[in-house]
Amino acid sequence: MKAIDLTLAPEASPPDTTLARDIPRPAAALVSDYRDEPPNRDGFVVAWPPQRYWKPAAEVESAARTTRTDAPLHLYFHIPFCLQRCRYCFFKIEVLSDSSHAVRERYVDALCAELEQIADAHALRGRRVQTIYFGGGTPSVLQPEQLGRIRRSIERCFAIAEDLEFVFEIEPITLNNRMIDGLADLGVTRISFGIQSFDDRVVALTGRHDTEEKNARAIRRAMDAGVVVNVDLLSGLEGDTTDSWRHSVERAIALEAHAVTIYKLELYSNARYMADLRRGTLSLPGPEEELALARWGLDRLRETGYRPSTYFTFTREGRYAQRHIIARWRGEDMYGIGASAFGCIDGVSRQNVSEIDEYLARIENGRSATQRALALTDVDHRMRDLVMGLKTTEIDLVAYRERHGVDPAVLLAEDIACLIGKGLLERADDRLRLTDEGVLYGDYCGRYLGAAMRRLQYGDCRPIRA
Ligand SMILES: C[S@@+](CC[C@H](N)C(=O)[O-])C[C@H]1O[C@@H](n2cnc3c(N)ncnc32)[C@H](O)[C@@H]1O
Ligand code: SF4
Repeated sequence: MKAIDLTLAPEASPPDTTLARDIPRPAAALVSDYRDEPPNRDGFVVAWPPQRYWKPAAEVESAARTTRTDAPLHLYFHIPFCLQRCRYCFFKIEVLSDSSHAVRERYVDALCAELEQIADAHALRGRRVQTIYFGGGTPSVLQPEQLGRIRRSIERCFAIAEDLEFVFEIEPITLNNRMIDGLADLGVTRISFGIQSFDDRVVALTGRHDTEEKNARAIRRAMDAGVVVNVDLLSGLEGDTTDSWRHSVERAIALEAHAVTIYKLELYSNARYMADLRRGTLSLPGPEEELALARWGLDRLRETGYRPSTYFTFTREGRYAQRHIIARWRGEDMYGIGASAFGCIDGVSRQNVSEIDEYLARIENGRSATQRALALTDVDHRMRDLVMGLKTTEIDLVAYRERHGVDPAVLLAEDIACLIGKGLLERADDRLRLTDEGVLYGDYCGRYLGAAMRRLQYGDCRPIRA
């Protein structure tokens, strides 16, 4: 579909507000497609445009642009191994007991080999790395020696920023003295603990082996080691009640976590919960109940001095925002290394093959692990900066105008008024900001503005889901 060009002459400033008049109006029936979708908390947006619009990598690679050499670079490493498969979890992981030490060794070697490969293939060698994120799965199931090998590979391929942020995801039960020392050697500056709940009864139902006491001890140890600590909580778990949920939020606050993330439970077909739901043996908090829990949690965090750095992570006094995630939402250059890892380099979004065997086979044979990709068009970038921008709770309109040459406040005035009317968005000087209520619906608001921009550019109002 051909895009309508809304671009202003680069030197035009401030933007020409008459532009909105020239845009063809779509049929009212089409407009209703996204405007009539009631606010909802369905689906966590991980990339924009969503992956179903991406293409096989081979079709995209030739369209990849030349890489800039001076822009900040971020690295994400995916470690798809865990102690157990938690009943709610849909991530593609291998449980340690089903996977041999030899496979993990090969996987670590493959991560190092992929680093070498991409450093050359994308002309990234020597670029300064600003943030590194080890996610999963559970990266802390790797041995400190294996982590050290990966760190040395990073240093061989890239320059490391002096103020490097190094984030590491941990299941608390895996944090022993050896791992604490290993993380210090690795240069980790921030630990993200998967806690989910501080209620032992709720945790036991998930299939995890953590307890409130072990979790608190792990958090204190990490704080004593001087790293920033984030606590992940999950709203909507089996067995959670108002009391157990409030206890979890209060405990995270009492432990003085630097950051608290509240994820809404998402369910996909490969989660064990799904099989139980189908059999009728599982009952979960309904959407209204889950919403009430999340609302209480966010209100309580605000009351105790936490401020949103994204619509799902609140940080103490607004300090300790995670730079890696903000860079991701802003579309800065990020390479995802490992099975199923996502990245975006020079405006090309890419994702690796998700099967571990296939990933190993490709890398060991010197082939690229990228399975699908999308070279973003200018219109995609405009949409992406609205959808992903709102994940950080606000869009800086001046920066947006400078980047894209158009003013969403003018072009999307009706849609913005609609979200303001729903009480989800507010205009504060040159910013569009989620209200306290809007923070509960961050991705809905983002998708709404993304669809509005799409309508303007293509005259097409398909609601675009995560
Ligand atoms: C990849 S895990 C990393 C932490 C580590 N694996 C653990 O669970 O302790 C990151 C976070 O994803 C979240 N998560 C897992 N399954 C989820 C689901 N079904 N819906 C929403 N969030 C989920 C959990 O809060 C978890 O802490
Ligand atoms: S929640 Fe974390 S530990 Fe549990 S299966 Fe998922 S990634 Fe692994």
